[in-house]
Parts: sequence; C-alpha cells; structure tokens
Amino acid sequence: MTAIILAAGEGKRMKSALPKVLHLLGGVPMLLYPLNLLDRNHFQKTIVVIGHKAEQIEMFLEGRPIQTVFQPQRLGTGDAVLRAWPLLKEFTGQVVILNGDTPLIQPVTLAALQETHLKEKATITFLTADVPNPKGYGRVIRAQDGAVSKIVEEKDATDEERKIREINSGTYIIESQFLFKALQKIVPENEQKEYYLTDTVKIAKDVGARVVAVKTHAEEVFGINSRAELAQAEAILQKRIARHWMDAGVTLIDPSRIRIDAQVRIGVDTVIHPGVTLEGSTKVGQGCVLYPCRIKNSHLETGVLIKDHSVIEEAIIESDVTVGPFAHLRPGTILRTGAKVGNFVEIKKSELGEKSKANHLTYLGNAYIGKRVNIGAGTITCNFDGKRKYKTVIEDDVFVGSDTQFIAPVTIGARALIAAGSTITKDVEPDALAISRGRQTTKVGWKKKRNH
Ligand code: UD1
Ligand code: CA
Repeated sequence: MTAIILAAGEGKRMKSALPKVLHLLGGVPMLLYPLNLLDRNHFQKTIVVIGHKAEQIEMFLEGRPIQTVFQPQRLGTGDAVLRAWPLLKEFTGQVVILNGDTPLIQPVTLAALQETHLKEKATITFLTADVPNPKGYGRVIRAQDGAVSKIVEEKDATDEERKIREINSGTYIIESQFLFKALQKIVPENEQKEYYLTDTVKIAKDVGARVVAVKTHAEEVFGINSRAELAQAEAILQKRIARHWMDAGVTLIDPSRIRIDAQVRIGVDTVIHPGVTLEGSTKVGQGCVLYPCRIKNSHLETGVLIKDHSVIEEAIIESDVTVGPFAHLRPGTILRTGAKVGNFVEIKKSELGEKSKANHLTYLGNAYIGKRVNIGAGTITCNFDGKRKYKTVIEDDVFVGSDTQFIAPVTIGARALIAAGSTITKDVEPDALAISRGRQTTKVGWKKKRNH
C-alpha cells in the first residue's frame, strides 16, 4: 500500500502565519498524527501533497522517509491527489488517502478499514461517522438499501441532505488503477468550483464498482479548520492521554485540569495534582509527586517531589530530589540524587551534587556544585561580566553562608566555609574559612547625641 496525505490547503479559517497542519496538538504538529498512523500500519511509500507555505512543511518533514509533491494552486482535494500521480504511475495496489487536518484517527481504525477493503474486494472504502454536528463536512448519501451512492459537500447539499448526520472523514482506501482514471473525470462543477476527491465515489458507482463505508466514533473523525476546533481536538486528545496514563498506573487527581503532551512518558505510582503541565519530551519516573508546575523537555528519575508553581525546562533531576515551591530550573540544570532546591531559587546550566541544598532565594548559573554542599539563602553566582559567562566551582562539603556573592571564575575547595555576607572574588583553599565583608562599627549612644 501507498499513502497520500493532503496538506496543501491554506487553512484560511485558522487566520495564521503558520500552515494549519503545523499547528500544535498535544505539543506536536498536527501533521505528525497521520504520519504516525501510517508508520504503525507499515507503509512502503508516503507522499505528502504540499502547496501553501510548502517550505515550512518541507522543513518539518526533513529527515523522514517521505516524498513530497507540490500542488501549485488550491484547486481542491481531487486535484491534490492527482499531483501524486507521477510518483505512482507504476503502482498497482491500494492508495490510502488521509487529510492532514484530521489527527484523531486511531491505528486500529485504519487497520479495520484496510481489512474491510480487502475482504469486501472494494474499489473504494472510506471512513465515516455519525456526528452530533455535521456542519461543514461532506454528507454520506445512501440509497434505500443502505448502499453508499455519493458524498455531497455541505455547500452543495440540499436542505434534506444537510440533515444527514453521517459524514465523510476524508480517509479513503482506493484501488490505484481506478483512482487515477477517476481523477481525470472529475469536473469542478460545484459551489466552490473545486475538483472534489469525493466525486470518485459517484464515479465508482456509475461504473458498477464496489464502494464501502466503514463507520467509526465521532471523536476520531474530527477535522480541524479553526482555532476553536483545534481546542476541541486538544480536549479529546487530552482525555485519551489521561486515560492511557491512568490505565498504566499513574494517579491523576482531576485529569481535566492536567495537560500532558503526546510524547511525555510517566512511571507507575506517580501522583499528578491539578494544574500540572507536562510538555515536549518530558519523562517522569516512578513514584514522583507533582504539584502545579510546568515541566518541559526534562527528565525526572524516581521519587522526585515538585512543589507548587515551579517552572522546569530542559533539566535532569535524579532520584529523591525535592524542588520548589516557586523554583525556576532553566536549561542545563542537573540535580543529583537527594538534592534539594527551595523557594525562589533559579538555576541555569549548573549541576547541584548529591544531597546538596539551595533552599532559599538563590541564583546559580554556570556552576558546578559538589556533594553535601549547603548553599545559604541569597547566594548569587555572578557569572556574567556583560560580555562573557564564567564558571563557579564549589567542591564537596562546602558550607556557604547566607547572602554570599561568588564573582566567577572562582573555585571553592572542599569543606571550606564561606562566611555569611561575603563577596568572594578569589579562589578558596580546601578546609579554609573565607570571610569578605565590611567590618561593623557600632557607635554607642549615637541616637541620643543626634537628638541634641
Ligand atoms: C473535506 C472533504 C469532506 C470531508 C472533510 C473531512 C472534499 C471535497 N471534502 O472537506 O467531504 O467531510 O474533508 O474533514 O474532499 N487540500 C489540499 N489541496 C486542496 C484542497 C485541500 O491539499 O486544493 C488538503 C487540505 O490541506 C486538507 C485536506 O485537503 O488537509 C482537506 O481539505 P479541506 O479544505 O479542509 O476540506 P474540507 O472542506 O474540510
Ligand atoms: Ca478540513
């Protein structure tokens, strides 16, 4: 089998600079869903028809085993499929056609469509559904005996036909020899003056070829034409994802208030509270507890506790670490086993060693911090001189008193103690005490004298 995905359309109703099929659903471009659907069903060849903003779509497809064809003008879905003909001249099997804007179809459904197509020896088999609101879709017209006779687009339908709730999903399996002959017979004589792929159904019936419609659930065939529909599709997808992780042993406390991207992975016995957003390629290990936070492209090992209102991006968090509340872990943060990061702590491109703590009001940037280090409240690594970034190294078992500034580059030897309120500009030897601050003067009786 060969597959064609239609993705040349403008997606006018999205009102966007981004091509419709690149809008994100579950954190990945919508076009990825039909592509994944085909991957799982083992296709030899996949052709994507592109046109509007073709360069952007080509960029997204780069590196995949896919061919693209260009549709110079948006003359309709029939014309779009015809553009793939030069690549399929020699091909004699079945062509699977998918809409690029219908991402919720499940692999089992496509497999069932294929099975029916072969069993029924059909020329066209297509996917339909009875939907509560058929507005905008092509309607499936059936004869008295229930056999499909044609598909009528909303704009061309009579009032009677518009009442039909069975719609065409835009997913078809068509015998290639028939398909390319039929495409040449399509004429743009309709309300939109377009070449409709859907006309192949009537053409097949007219020559006595077998057409079969397979019904599936309304949620699967949901097509996205507007931002409102994108949000509805996201809601359907989120329900599926939530169900998947709960079945896999993850506790979601109020799934309707949790957002999990399609590619996220979560270990068993993790508990996710309302207000959590897990994005991108994030992996959460077993037995973690997550309070409201946003975690993107990060890796959490087992038993990690994330307290409320933390933002975590491109970070690695090993087992038994506690983060937050109100922590900001920026790209390149590594928290080793048992480390602790408390409130109002920002970390960037830094490693915090095993069992080390930065509990309050701290900025750590371009720093390497060893094991069992205590970073006092208000510690700042001054890593930037306006031009370049410099590194701070703090070795094992160092105790950093509160309100310390490290003027990088600087290295603090193991077990050293930095007195509170110090501005450290020079390296400190292991086991040393460093203190660097103005001396306090107390003028006894000063207040009384001033008042005189
Ligand atoms: C289409 C179907 C309709 C079906 C609905 C399901 C036709 C005529 N109608 O309508 O029966 O119920 O999908 O969602 O096929 N495209 C191109 N080139 C074009 C026109 C469209 O590549 O010249 C692509 C679009 O990018 C899109 C897909 O084909 O991915 C469907 O096009 P769209 O304009 O959204 O068709 P609908 O009006 O939704
Ligand atoms: Ca559509």
